[in-house]
This record gives sequence, C-alpha cells and structure tokens, in this order.
Amino acid sequence: MNIESALIPVGDMVEAVDGFLAASPASRAWDVETAFNWQRADAGRLTEGQRSAVQFVTLIEDHLPGYFEVYHRYFPVDDSVDRDTFVHNRELYHFTVRWALEEDTHARALARYQEAAGIAERGALRTELAIEGQKPFDLPYDHPVQFFAYALVQEKATQMYYQHLRDVVDDPVLAAVLAKLSRDEARHFSFMADVVGRYLRVHGDATVEPIRDVIANFRMPLADTMRGYWRWALKIADVASYDHTEAYEHLVKVIDRAVDARTDRVDELVRFIEECRSVA
Ligand SMILES: [Fe+2]
Ligand SMILES: [Fe+2]
Repeated sequence: MNIESALIPVGDMVEAVDGFLAASPASRAWDVETAFNWQRADAGRLTEGQRSAVQFVTLIEDHLPGYFEVYHRYFPVDDSVDRDTFVHNRELYHFTVRWALEEDTHARALARYQEAAGIAERGALRTELAIEGQKPFDLPYDHPVQFFAYALVQEKATQMYYQHLRDVVDDPVLAAVLAKLSRDEARHFSFMADVVGRYLRVHGDATVEPIRDVIANFRMPLADTMRGYWRWALKIADVASYDHTEAYEHLVKVIDRAVDARTDRVDELVRFIEECRSVA
C-alpha cells in the first residue's frame, strides 16, 4: 500500500486541524518561563520512584525531534509527492508544527523542573538526554491511518500517566507541571481520535487490518532503543500506573462513534483490541 493512495480527503484533514486549533487558543497557551514558580520546586518532597518517573518522562518528551521527523518522512511537504498529496500534507503540517511546539515545551518544562528541583544539573542532563536523543526513531507503517492510531494510543497513555503521577506527588510545582502536560496530551489525543474516526468513516473496512497491526505490534516510543527501558518502565509503574493498554478502550470508543453499523471485520477488530487490554 502506498500512503498517498489511502489518505482521507483534504477537506476532512482541514476540519480536523481547524478543530484542533480552535481548541488551542492563545489564551490557553502556557510557557515554561512564566507558568510555574520554579523557586519553590523541591524534589526533596518526592520519593525516589517519583524522581525516577520524572527522569523517564523527560527522556521520552525530549525525543521530539525524532517524532517530528517521522511526520516529515511519511507526509512530506515538498516535490516528492503529487499536488493533491502535498495539499493534504500541507494542511496536516499546520497541526504537526503546533503539536511539535507544545511537545518541545513539555521537554523544556520537565528539564527545567529537574534543574530547579535539584534532580539534575543542567549540563549533565543535556548530555544524558543526548544519548537517547541521537538514537533513531521510526514508525514503519504503510497505511496513513496507522500513524494517527499509534499517536491516539500514545497520547492517551501519556495523558493518563501524567494524571496518575500528579495525583500522588507532594511537590505542588511538579503537580502544576503535570496538570499542564496532561491537558495538552488530552487535546492531542482528541485530534488523533478525530482523524482516526474520519479514516473509519471514509475508508471503512480497509482501515481494519492497518489498525489491528498497530495494536498487535504496539510499543511505546523509545521502548526498543532506550537502555534499560523495560526495567525502568516497570519501576515507574510502581509509582503511578503506566499501562498503554488502558488507552485501548478509548480507541474502541472512537471506532464505535465512527461506525454506525459494525461490519464483521470491525466487530472482530474491536474484539481483538479488547483482548489486548492487560488484565488488571
Ligand atoms: Fe508531551
Ligand atoms: Fe502529546
């Protein structure tokens, strides 16, 4: 399958992007410099596991250049695609560039917290982040809906993790940072959910196999490249529940909203997604 031939119509992408930007007015934006009282940040109020969780999510957020690059690679905005594809990709870019700015702000907020709270010294942190930051990131998909279905799960999982962590930390500055981050991730999730819903409505059963493939092979970002990822993921799960399969029920809701009458294939997909949820 080639990605260009399976896109949704540009009008659908425009509506999804307009919706995202309408939900993201300047009055709701925030910045690292003024949103928090950094002087009061105090990692002494955190448990060792909570500090570790902050370090972990800083690494994940800091890999933004790698994630952003994936969109350029698969939705190019240059002369390597035909005119209609370019027009679609150019519209998507209005989202991607804004999303990237927000994710980059998350990376800076978490790094700033580490420094202000006494977890890490700025120079040392920079060097440490570079080790993972330089590693390649790819989503080797061949159907466009897969990029949005992957991000749907990942954004929802991240949003939920930040909420869980915020509920247990004792440092109000970190709690405030996590509240901002989880609100942003919720908005990113909504965009992905909107786009996946449109794919289902436009392409119906043709999206079933591609979505199934995303869930069957799901790995959180950096899970395959970060040194000690699984040990670390297990450790931070002790602090606050970190389970991307919790996000699957939200994918099922998106499917249910998009599909009026479930075909056998959609039915089977939903069953499969539900089976992939971890048993708590
Ligand atoms: Fe983020
Ligand atoms: Fe996000």
